[in-house]
Amino acid sequence: MNRFENRPGSAPLLIVRGLKKAYSRRSNLWSRHVEAVQAISGVDLEVARGSTLAVVGQSGSGKSTLATCIAQLEQPDAGEIWFDGTALATLKPAQLGAYRRRIQLIFQDSAQALNPRMRVNEIIAEPLEIARAGNKSGRHSTVAKVMEMVALSPDLGKRSALQLSGGQRQRVAIARAMVLNPELLIFDEAFSGLDLIVQEEIIGLLHSLQAARGLTYIIIAHDFGFSCQIASHMAVMNEGKIVEQGETRQIVTNPMAPQTKVLLASIPRFPRHIATAGGQV
Ligand SMILES: Nc1ncnc2c1ncn2[C@@H]1O[C@H](COP(=O)(O)OP(=O)(O)OP(=O)(O)O)[C@@H](O)[C@H]1O
Ligand SMILES: [Mg+2]
Repeated sequence: MNRFENRPGSAPLLIVRGLKKAYSRRSNLWSRHVEAVQAISGVDLEVARGSTLAVVGQSGSGKSTLATCIAQLEQPDAGEIWFDGTALATLKPAQLGAYRRRIQLIFQDSAQALNPRMRVNEIIAEPLEIARAGNKSGRHSTVAKVMEMVALSPDLGKRSALQLSGGQRQRVAIARAMVLNPELLIFDEAFSGLDLIVQEEIIGLLHSLQAARGLTYIIIAHDFGFSCQIASHMAVMNEGKIVEQGETRQIVTNPMAPQTKVLLASIPRFPRHIATAGGQV
């Protein structure tokens, strides 16, 4: 537990209750028949302040749908999302904007999607401009602070995103998400394209940001071993439902759901130390 993490009895930062989301899709390209796909079907989740939750599960189990609903990029069909004690569905659009800034979602493609015609400084400043936060010099100093926070040297600010390495681009994507001072960051396969050393550097960076600022993370990753190493808590999804959730240590040493057992077995040689090291980020 870090110094920001929920003390026993204090309220979680995020509570999700009975969340459901269905999509409609054609059964094939030529068909007129539209079928409903229940992407998530009754998800209950709690995320403690200052903790790291890994959401794991097979492809198509609903992880990204859950993330986009929590980040308010999709409207759920049913259920409730409580953030910092407020039910988001009760907020008026103007109030919702402020909450949206407190929850940032970073995709695998966020780094690739950076506008190549803009300089790094402008890319990072853009969310501040859209939010009309502060004046020009205030925004300038916020960008400089955030770049320092994610260990991007100031001279990279004048480059285009095309002139950066993959790891640097990912730091720019994180800086862009950090600039509005969020409390919850959701990473959806955000580290998949990076080589192991860069992945470790970024994880180290997230760890120190969490220790310094009490950030809360939800990390979606295909690599189960990686998730076990970085997350204090874990939720295992299957067919739109959470089949098991709890502390990583507990889940790894005593898995209950068959899907968790399958995921554990998928790690070729599961190092013993991981079982006791859950919660590094
Ligand atoms: N926009 C959409 N329109 C139609 N169906 C969708 C849409 N988004 C997701 N789905 C469907 O909802 C289900 C859950 O998808 P989701 O992307 O949430 O899974 P996931 O666990 O993130 O998978 P992956 O690990 O492959 O990223 C899948 O059956 C998917 O095909
Ligand atoms: Mg996904």
